[in-house]
Amino acid sequence: MKHLKILLDKYYEAPEIFQAGRYWKSYEKIIINEVEKADVNQLRSGVYPIFGTFGFSESVYHYHPDMPFHLKLIKIIIRSLFITKKSYLPYSLRLSDIREMAYKNCITQGELANLKPISEIETSTFGNPSDLFEINGKKYTMQFLNFYIRLCFAQRHLKFTGTETVVELGSGSGFQVEVLKKVFPNLTILCFDLPYPLVLCEKYLSESLGNHIVIKSSDTLSWTDLNGIEEGKVHMLGNWKFPLLGNYNFDTFWNAASFGEMEPSIVKNYLNYVLGTCDSIYLLQARNGKESSQKSGVITPIRFSDYEDMLGDYYLINSSDAYEAHRKMSQSGGYFQAVWKKESTIIGFKYGVVA
Ligand SMILES: C[S@@+](CC[C@H](N)C(=O)[O-])C[C@H]1O[C@@H](n2cnc3c(N)ncnc32)[C@H](O)[C@@H]1O
Repeated sequence: MKHLKILLDKYYEAPEIFQAGRYWKSYEKIIINEVEKADVNQLRSGVYPIFGTFGFSESVYHYHPDMPFHLKLIKIIIRSLFITKKSYLPYSLRLSDIREMAYKNCITQGELANLKPISEIETSTFGNPSDLFEINGKKYTMQFLNFYIRLCFAQRHLKFTGTETVVELGSGSGFQVEVLKKVFPNLTILCFDLPYPLVLCEKYLSESLGNHIVIKSSDTLSWTDLNGIEEGKVHMLGNWKFPLLGNYNFDTFWNAASFGEMEPSIVKNYLNYVLGTCDSIYLLQARNGKESSQKSGVITPIRFSDYEDMLGDYYLINSSDAYEAHRKMSQSGGYFQAVWKKESTIIGFKYGVVA
């Protein structure tokens, strides 16, 4: 992938603070190798488990391509005998029940948030998702439903009208952007990420939303300001381009499962460019910080109270445990989802309280 090489050269030239922290450095080489030889048509099929680290994880069951053949065979037999045909899960649950419950949860949450219903949108099938299913003639994956659920929470507090500008750092697969744009087609979105997820995210969004909607990282690479932003489009930018945000005023800064995988100094650096210029902030992060040991994971985990401190003058509007469509996010000791707003944008805000 020639374009990835060009992005990587620029990324390595960028100041140290824009290089991945320890958590991500450990994946960097393996991911780059995989991206270079990957068949993008199989992105979501499960044959590239390493892409699951940034969201392309759409397998119903986790399996490892390098598992010996006889073990794979045993797993397939057990599944076909006990899981899909007979009742293996509690309360005689079948896979189709779990999917239907998740879908119904999206219907209810969508109504509560006054959002375009899940029944009116569907996932792209690009990348051959192994978890593809259909309900009422529309295509879904659990991941698609999960990102809709995230938006339901956000929308209850952000109340997008549909013409806002959203900046997402660490877009990963781009699934959140896909859902945002399918619910609100006129949103303007800026996606910043490390080069190796960025190239796959760009490919995915170009296929799922249409090539004409996505301004490519090859175009934004030479940008020295944000004058090239086009209303209603999705713009792909390398993470080291974040300083371009400088004095750019926009509506919402969005970061999910990404800050927690950085060191506090890296997070503070990114926040420097958006605090004061965005009206609201949506975060979904590990409540007690991500894994950390002497040799791997993050060096310094960031906890909910650290985000509160870092967001300074922004006022916490609401926070709760984070949920996927079918369950609470429980990995790494649980996740929170929360929305903060700039004081001046809060209607009825007076003397530190919302009326
Ligand atoms: C676990 S993925 C989450 C992706 C997506 N937001 C989601 O919720 O599925 C973490 C994301 O953070 C990005 N990331 C990690 N460290 C970063 C850094 N130092 N600068 C910019 N992005 C970073 C990764 O590239 C990846 O896209």
